[in-house]
Amino acid sequence: MNRTRAQLAGVGTYLPENLVTNDELAKTIDTSDAWIRERTGIRQRHLAQPHETCAFMATRAAEIALARAGIPAAEIGAVILATATPDQAFPATATRVQAALGTSGFAFDLSAACAGFVYALGVADAMIRTGQVRAALVIGAEVYSRILNWDDRGTCVLFGDGAGAVVLRAAEVDEAAPQLLSTHLHSDGALGDILYVDGAVGRRDLPGHLVMNGREVFRHAVARMSDAIDEALAANNVTRADIDWLIPHQANRRIIDGIGKRLGLGEGQVVVTVDRHANTSAASIPLAMAAAIEDGRIKPGQLLLLVALGGGLTWGSALIRL
Ligand code: UT7
Repeated sequence: MNRTRAQLAGVGTYLPENLVTNDELAKTIDTSDAWIRERTGIRQRHLAQPHETCAFMATRAAEIALARAGIPAAEIGAVILATATPDQAFPATATRVQAALGTSGFAFDLSAACAGFVYALGVADAMIRTGQVRAALVIGAEVYSRILNWDDRGTCVLFGDGAGAVVLRAAEVDEAAPQLLSTHLHSDGALGDILYVDGAVGRRDLPGHLVMNGREVFRHAVARMSDAIDEALAANNVTRADIDWLIPHQANRRIIDGIGKRLGLGEGQVVVTVDRHANTSAASIPLAMAAAIEDGRIKPGQLLLLVALGGGLTWGSALIRL
């Protein structure tokens, strides 16, 4: 029986031009390439220049996704932009993207930190399933370089800037067809103080910097993302062996390897871009997915499992038949 489901029609990315290696960071920060690589797997990150705002990067990524999907901007009914680093408190950066692209319908930002892209997929999927929207742009775009405390070596070396976008399109399909099969979203506000930004618009007494208890986040990341994976598999009646690709949030190579190992996946089935992009928060999953689609590793018809965890804590999964 055919039902209305969301299909992934195109992906696009934008990375800032300025590429900064660990060695370059070590010139001004008390750190080393060896420490950063060993603890995180990160080799380099892209850092935005002033013109590379959240809206700018999101728009560039979305333009590419639209062109690849072959869908005119006017047919997009919703722009959902996952970001923790919007250009302004309001209007939503997504509305700036709407204006730049000429999309229809409505546009809004979604705040779920590093789990933002999976959350945005969940919202768009629900809107498509219920017939509210026929095509949506789901974007993750971040400029974390603007909220980092560059005097805190424990966090400032970990993050990068960038944007990734996907076009979702409604289709009347059966269970075996390409589609977004499920999303599962979670949060636990009691853990809000292990990863947060110490500021808000109008709070001149607070610097607005990212603060993280890395060890605590690490501990929760492996456990919660593993649980989210089990939940997605059980809900869809699929096994670990059915998964072609795991596309996890790119925060730390050790976390990614831990989850991949637990799933029984070989290195060749886990997409890793943390070495090139560092942690780009809500942009990390679409950036990783696009990289593996563009280089031909991920192929049409394959089963992709996306999983993320971020400040909130927020976490969740998405299972996609491409
Ligand atoms: O995206 C949201 C999710 N975020 C995450 O998943 C991040 C999860 N956490 C992590 O990835 C890891 O906890 C970190 C990479 C952040 C840190 O790794 P760690 O193994 O937990 O190191 P640590 O923070 O316990 O620090 C170990 C040592 C300390 O020195 P002492 O006290 O042992 O002498 C730090 O001062 O490493 C030192 N250190 C550094 N040394 C050189 C901390 N940062 C640096 C640095 N360069 N950049």
